[in-house]
Amino acid sequence: MTLPTNLQRAIDSELSGMSQNMLADAVDGLSKRYREPRAQRHYMASNIDRSAYIACRMPATYAVICGVLAEIQNLYPEIDPKTLVDLGSGPGTALWAAVETFTSLEKLTALEGDAQLIDLGKRLGSSAEEQILKDAEWKHQDLCQLVNCPSADIVIASYALGELSSEMQLKLLAQAWQSAGKALVLIEPGTPAGFKRILDWRSWLIEAKANILAPCPHEKVCPMSGSDWCHFSKRLSRTSLHRQLKSAALGHEDEKYSYIVAVKQMPQVALQATRGRILRHPQKHSGHLEMTLCSIDGTLEKKVISRRDGDLYKKARKLEWGDLI
Ligand SMILES: C[S@@+](CC[C@H](N)C(=O)[O-])C[C@H]1O[C@@H](n2cnc3c(N)ncnc32)[C@H](O)[C@@H]1O
Repeated sequence: MTLPTNLQRAIDSELSGMSQNMLADAVDGLSKRYREPRAQRHYMASNIDRSAYIACRMPATYAVICGVLAEIQNLYPEIDPKTLVDLGSGPGTALWAAVETFTSLEKLTALEGDAQLIDLGKRLGSSAEEQILKDAEWKHQDLCQLVNCPSADIVIASYALGELSSEMQLKLLAQAWQSAGKALVLIEPGTPAGFKRILDWRSWLIEAKANILAPCPHEKVCPMSGSDWCHFSKRLSRTSLHRQLKSAALGHEDEKYSYIVAVKQMPQVALQATRGRILRHPQKHSGHLEMTLCSIDGTLEKKVISRRDGDLYKKARKLEWGDLI
């Protein structure tokens, strides 16, 4: 997974001429602040922080959002969203991912509290081939003061709700769910704290009679317990600058995330038989596979599939962490 060429070019042009040492320090500072559990609201406090974000975080959040939206497209092919609202849009990551996934989109609205990020998001958007990205409506809005969340077929908040207080998260969740015509998408870092937030929102959504499209194959009590947490991983390629700024040897990184997609109406495809979702990398041995499933009956199931299972084994060998079985 890489960024769209035009977006990558626009980012490169934003970063050109900047001191790599300063950028690398800012990347380091940003990731330290994100690792501290909600220490402060202003994670991006300066322009160098914003540059560090588009250099090193935006590619990762873009890859994750693309993966989640692609799954919605697969499970809910008739969704055909015309409108999308992005809460805590940052530099507009979800807007780019949505346009990449849904050709049906006609209008994008981004709500963001940081005026400089809005300017940056607009500049990046103006480099897009797609007119819809150039025409995106950006609203300077403190989410804590939001009274009427704009309505849209899809409402998304990626890596954003967790920056608010727990009380504000639930207030915004209620507004976002009410404003979502078809689907609400919430994505958080794949950490125990990120998962805990997703779990709280899941409980709220089930209470509000939402249908959970993904990742859970059921709406029973989450079987994850103890020190374990439900999360997934998306691989993205690193540009050479990305590698240098993170002093990384590998040409890729694996971004961990937790998420939930709630829909107003459960689509037909999603209602068809699913055994469960694969949690963690399946262990592939010679002649058999071992995997842990979150199964439709609401339990964690250890499953062994061997060569003797014939076709099932052949199909299962292609499955990965996060896939439905
Ligand atoms: C980690 S960034 C995520 C950006 C983008 N959604 C993405 O996935 O790359 C979180 C964003 O939420 C915004 N944000 C946090 N609290 C906010 C608030 N109270 N009102 C508006 N925006 C807020 C931040 O300014 C920042 O742009």
